[in-house]
Amino acid sequence: MINKQRKAGKTPFRDLPYDKRISRGVSALVKALRKECDYLVVLGIGGSALGNIALDTALRPFLPDPKDKQSGKPQLFVLDNIDPDQFGSFLDYINPRLKRTVFNVISKSGRTSETAAQFMIIREMLVHALGKAGYRKQVVATTDAKAGTLRTIADNDKLKTLEVPDGVGGRFSVLSAVGLFSAAMCGINIGQLLAGARDMDKRVSNEDFRKNPAAINAAINYHYCTHGKPILVMMPYSFALKDMADWYRQLWAESLGKKFDLNKRQVWVGPTPVKALGATDQHSQVQLYREGPNDKLFTFLQVKNFDSDIRIGPAPDCAPELGFLAGKKLSELLNNEKKATEYALLESKRPCLTVLFDRVNAYTIGQFIYLYEVTTSLAGALFNVNPYDQPAVELGKEATFALMGKEGYEDFAKEIRSRTRIDNKYLV
Ligand code: PA5
Repeated sequence: MINKQRKAGKTPFRDLPYDKRISRGVSALVKALRKECDYLVVLGIGGSALGNIALDTALRPFLPDPKDKQSGKPQLFVLDNIDPDQFGSFLDYINPRLKRTVFNVISKSGRTSETAAQFMIIREMLVHALGKAGYRKQVVATTDAKAGTLRTIADNDKLKTLEVPDGVGGRFSVLSAVGLFSAAMCGINIGQLLAGARDMDKRVSNEDFRKNPAAINAAINYHYCTHGKPILVMMPYSFALKDMADWYRQLWAESLGKKFDLNKRQVWVGPTPVKALGATDQHSQVQLYREGPNDKLFTFLQVKNFDSDIRIGPAPDCAPELGFLAGKKLSELLNNEKKATEYALLESKRPCLTVLFDRVNAYTIGQFIYLYEVTTSLAGALFNVNPYDQPAVELGKEATFALMGKEGYEDFAKEIRSRTRIDNKYLV
């Protein structure tokens, strides 16, 4: 089963780390654009944004490094929402900086309303401020090679383009130009990222179950999900890894939450992935995790070696009870807190797994991404569902078209309105 889907050509995402065309195309564009770019803005949503955010949080410092400006590394904004207050204040900020800003609009289909709306606002702003040629200069469109609305616009407006590879869905696309362009623009070593993914590929292709981390991970998750623990909590004990848990949440939810199995039977399956952050959420969720329903499997992400470490100062004379912390390192405290939480959960018979990072860098992040993509694919086979479609998301997209007045959707709009009308009887 381990390599069956790949042999059947169903997993093109698995070939991304080997595709030199992608990294060459990305690097050439980065070389051309980076010198004149202080701000990089990604417009996208779901699989066209979460990987970009996760890579940025994992592999760039928490606060902008003042040296970045000189070395040509832009500040990154990933705008994966359409809240008018947020978008409005962003426009105010970016408007005087347009000449030093590159906009990367990412959409495989090009018909996603959120991304389309953002892009139409930015397009108008750029054309108005810089003219057609200026607009063209500042935009990179990442989309399907041949089809779709964004492809049509890009060809028509003569935009620079990168491809979302054929057969690779949004949530499996972070190791394509979708994730690599913003990463490389920001100085992340995409060569190392892809090397990590390739090395993990060797391990997750091993036909010996006991030597294959993706097979073991998928089997454990599947076992618990189907034995009373359908909630999967991913809890990184690392700020750098916190958005990886968000990326994972989408990967598992959209890939495995399915009404029909592969035999077209109604099954309504799927684990519920949950994100928590150590140590922060110890003080928010662990009460529930230990004494609430025993319906969860916990996966900790732990880092052995942090890039920097900080020693805790001496205890004030008036508080000798804090002496046990004095002189210790923050990494020691954080990793012991992880151990303490794990122990507490195990004491309450809650199952726990740990993914251990020797350190967080481009190579290990590449390994992690590939491990979880293949784990998802194998979990799909265990659940007997198609992990590569998302029909339930599509319905929401279509309903938005209808409510926003798209031609041909009039009857659908009426039906939605009648079903979602607010009944004043229940207004309080
Ligand atoms: O994983 C997926 O396929 C989805 O989350 C999409 O990435 C998301 O809906 C955005 O779609 P698009 O890239 O077509 O705008």
